[in-house]
Amino acid sequence: MSLLITGGTGYIGSHAVVELLNAGDDVVIVDNLSNSSTKSLDRVEHITGKRPIFIKADICDKAAMESVFREHDISAVIHFAGLKAVGESTQIPLSYYHNNVTGTIVLLEVMKQFSVKNLVFSSSATVYGENNLSPLIETMPTSATNPYGQTKLMIEHILFDLAKSDPQWSIISLRYFNPIGAHHSGLIGENPNGIPNNLLPFVSQVAVGRLQQLSVFGDDYDTIDGTGVRDYIHVVDLALAHLKAVTALSKVDGCIAINVGTGNGTSVLQIVNKFKEISGVDVPYQISPRRPGDIATVFAKADLANEFLGWQAERNLDDMIRDTWRWQSQNPNGFE
Ligand code: NAD
Ligand code: WQD
Repeated sequence: MSLLITGGTGYIGSHAVVELLNAGDDVVIVDNLSNSSTKSLDRVEHITGKRPIFIKADICDKAAMESVFREHDISAVIHFAGLKAVGESTQIPLSYYHNNVTGTIVLLEVMKQFSVKNLVFSSSATVYGENNLSPLIETMPTSATNPYGQTKLMIEHILFDLAKSDPQWSIISLRYFNPIGAHHSGLIGENPNGIPNNLLPFVSQVAVGRLQQLSVFGDDYDTIDGTGVRDYIHVVDLALAHLKAVTALSKVDGCIAINVGTGNGTSVLQIVNKFKEISGVDVPYQISPRRPGDIATVFAKADLANEFLGWQAERNLDDMIRDTWRWQSQNPNGFE
C-alpha cells in the first residue's frame, strides 16, 4: 500500500515525503510542477536514499487521477497541491478557485470511485479570518478575507459535508500557521518564484544579497514592538504532524480540523534580529506602511494536536532560522 502525496515536490510536501520515506512508507507523488521542480526529487533521494514514484499530472485532470489510482494501491492521500499566494489570488481568482476547489473535488470524486476514503488536507490559519483573537482555537467561527483563504474555507466545508454524507470517510484538515525553515541537511527548502511574498524567504534573500532590503509592513500595531506577530513553525515539525495525522485517521469518524502551530508568537523585528544573530549577516530594513489585509497578532492554541495526534513542535526559533539560513546560503538561487 502507498500514500498518495499531491503537491509532493513543493516546499511542505517535499519535507513530508522525506519523513514518510524515512519512516518506511511507500510514496506516490502527483504534482503538475506549476510551482516546483523535479530537482527536489533528486535532493529527497540524496537525503533518504530512496526515490519516490513521481507522476507529473494535474489534480484537475480526472482521467490522469483515475489512472494513478488504477495503477497504484493507495491507502490514504495527503493533499498539499494548491496555489497559495494571497496577493496573486486577488488578481486571478478564477485560477485559484478552479485549481484549489475544482482540483480537490476531482480528487475526492476519484478517491470515492476507488473507495479510498482517508485524507489529510493542507488547510491554513487563514480560515480564522480577521475577527478572532489569538490564541486561535479550532471551535472559533471561520471566515476568509481573500480568494486564497476562501478556497481553503470552501474545501473545509466540502470535506465536512462529504464526511457527514458517508461515515466511511476519515478526514483530518490540518490548519497550518506560518511554516518556515528547511531540512537540516540544507538540501531542500522553500524556493519561491519571483519576489517572495512571505517574510522568511524575503529576509533570507536579503541576507544572501539577492534583494536589497526588507520592507517591514507597519510598526504601529498593538504588539511587543509594533510589528506583526505570527506563529512560525518549523517545516520539519509540520511534516511530522502529517505522519501522526495519517496514523490518527483510523480513529476519525468524519472530518476534524486541527491547528498545527507552536502556540508562540514572534514579531517581524524579533525575526530580523534573530536572523542577524544566527547568520552573522546584516538584514537592512525600512519601516513601510501596513500591508492591506494584515492583522496584528496570529498564534495558535495547539493543544488539540497534542491531545489527538500526540504531536507537538520540537524545534525552536533558533532551529528554524538556522535551517532557513543553511538552505538559503547553500542554495542562493534555490534549486537552480
Ligand atoms: P508549494 O507551492 O511549494 O507546493 C504546492 C505544490 O502543489 C507545488 O509543487 C505545485 O506545483 C503543486 N500544485 C499546485 N496545483 C496543482 C495541481 N492542480 N495539480 C498538481 N499539483 C499542483 O506550497 P507549500 O508551501 O508547500 O504549500 C502546500 C500546501 O499547504 C498548499 O495547499 C498551501 O495552500 C498550504 N499551506 C501553505 C502555507 C505556507 O505558508 N507555505 C500555509 C498554510 C497552508
Ligand atoms: C508574516 C509577517 C507581515 C513580508 C501568509 C498567508 C497565510 C499563510 C501563511 C497560506 C506579517 C510581515 C511580511 C514582508 C513584512 N499561507 N511581513 N515584510 O501574512 O502571516 O500569512 O502565509 O495559507 O494564509 O496570508 O505571512 O510571511 O506574509 O507575513 O513585514 O516583506 O511578516 O506583515 O506581519 P502571513 P507572511
